[in-house]
Amino acid sequence: MNKLIVGNWKMNGNLSLIDEFLHNLDAHVILCIPSVFVAYAHLKKPTLQIAAQDCSVYSDFGAHTGEISAKMLSELGCKYAIIGHSERRRTSNFDTPSNVFAKLQNVVKCGMTAILCVDESYSDLVDNQTKEFLKTNLNKVCIAYEPLSAIGTGKVPSLTEISETLSKIKDAYFGVQTLYGGSVNLSNAKEILSIELVDGVLIGGASLKLTELNKIARLS
Ligand code: PGA
Repeated sequence: MNKLIVGNWKMNGNLSLIDEFLHNLDAHVILCIPSVFVAYAHLKKPTLQIAAQDCSVYSDFGAHTGEISAKMLSELGCKYAIIGHSERRRTSNFDTPSNVFAKLQNVVKCGMTAILCVDESYSDLVDNQTKEFLKTNLNKVCIAYEPLSAIGTGKVPSLTEISETLSKIKDAYFGVQTLYGGSVNLSNAKEILSIELVDGVLIGGASLKLTELNKIARLS
């Protein structure tokens, strides 16, 4: 089975970059684009595998100005959603553990797969209720291990360190699928993807370069 290749654009991109990707992106890449572009991309290319970068803590519909629910994102073709990215847990200080848990439930309830991001302190970030939820929804959640020191820095931990941490995560969380993220690019993707416990990669900066992303996708 191919490993998951997930590209996270974060707050980048525009319509012309989306068009370029729609025409030429390797079919097995899952693309996380800003939510404002999701409908455009889905309607133009329904086969594109789209992930949301976040969703509301509120489910379905309601009087929550500015919020976007998991249900809306799934209606617009998102099959995956990133939940609890460190840029949301740490920078905006909004993704508290209880908010992350609410989002996780919303994503899974809508039939999407959640990409739950954790860093080195994964044992604090995956609390007991999340753990219980994981146990019964293993096929709808994967955990992306993204060490804070590696995000956007070009500093990837050693392959042994990645492998050891993923092994601990799999042991603690019932063999959950695990992704690695943090400074993945064309020059290191092959060796990272060769780690047995890496079920996929979450790529930030390098995912904005179509040729590089396609080459990474072909490695898996
Ligand atoms: P990066 O970002 O690949 O630019 O380090 C990864 C991420 O934040 O998911």
